[in-house]
Amino acid sequence: SPSDPDLVERARAAKEKLGDKVFVLGHHYQRDEVIQFADVTGDSFKLARDAAARPEAEYIVFCGVHFMAESADILTSDDQKVVLPDLAAGCSMADMATAEQVAECWDVLTEAGIAEQVVPVSYMNSSADIKAFTGKHGGTICTSSNAKNALEWAFEQGEKVLFLPDQHLGRNTAVRDMGLSLEDCVLYNPHKPNGGLTAEQLRDAKMILWRGHCSVHGRFSLESVEDVRARIPGVNVLVHPECRHEVVAAADYVGSTEYIIKALEAAPAGSKWAIGTELNLVRRLANRFAPEGKEIVFLDKTVCFCSTMNRIDLPHLVWTLESLAAGKLVNRIEVDPETEKYAKLALERMLTLP
Ligand code: 13P
Ligand code: SF4
Repeated sequence: SPSDPDLVERARAAKEKLGDKVFVLGHHYQRDEVIQFADVTGDSFKLARDAAARPEAEYIVFCGVHFMAESADILTSDDQKVVLPDLAAGCSMADMATAEQVAECWDVLTEAGIAEQVVPVSYMNSSADIKAFTGKHGGTICTSSNAKNALEWAFEQGEKVLFLPDQHLGRNTAVRDMGLSLEDCVLYNPHKPNGGLTAEQLRDAKMILWRGHCSVHGRFSLESVEDVRARIPGVNVLVHPECRHEVVAAADYVGSTEYIIKALEAAPAGSKWAIGTELNLVRRLANRFAPEGKEIVFLDKTVCFCSTMNRIDLPHLVWTLESLAAGKLVNRIEVDPETEKYAKLALERMLTLP
């Protein structure tokens, strides 16, 4: 839907008034009405790097979700202020691993006598507390675009990996890219005593997967892939690695949001694509590439936006930019220094991965 012209003008005017003092980052899942004001767009990895590369901006306005804004705060200097236009823009997957649960898990691994062999690898989609835990225990952060390199690094450091909180990215990367089998992976359920696992199962496992998932990508099924192949002969199925293993196994291509965009840019005219990721991005790509004769459809029949990403809308962005332009700091995301210290270790390790 077209944006309200009055709000567009107010956002433009406030942004112009702020000039170089503000830098607006937009994740690919953001609404069109928001993304038009982003100075850069990107996947989680690119945005983390871009935030760190803007030391002159006093305000980093993060159009994305809470864990991304936290990561930006950790990677920027102390006098830079990271702002999230709606504080309710969280991530249900990140919420599936709390600091208490992860500390308890480490106790379980210690009890089983394997903690020294385990290297934690935490997905970017996790709270700063979980990133700090990861840094404290010699692990790294990863995103969907560098998960393979992160796992390769981790298996050079130790025999086992604790991957959290997304079981699917962990399993898909281990099986597709590392040559591990499904039997090498066990699922740790934080709601069960000892994660629902015996000490023997933990000792035999190579990958200990946290039982978390993305509710948006979890909606795609093997049936969605079969349906679209029947409906559109010759279609290329391209999905995000947060999708379930059977969906990823049935797809033709798998990658992060940035990978998906690059693949479609390189696609020949006349090609057909079904995309398994969030709907704002898929619709934007379908509109962008239609004039070039590339047919792009959403993988599932039902709509699936990320409801928390969608909380950042034009009214929230206008309110944020106008507040900042009036000298009023709102919705600052600030990680406490102790958490930041260890979380930064894990994030910086990620930034040095090949
Ligand atoms: P990427 O942008 O890294 O592909 O991540 C997708 C996502 O779910 C972000 O929340
Ligand atoms: Fe979290 Fe999934 Fe939304 Fe990404 S798409 S922010 S993983 S709920």
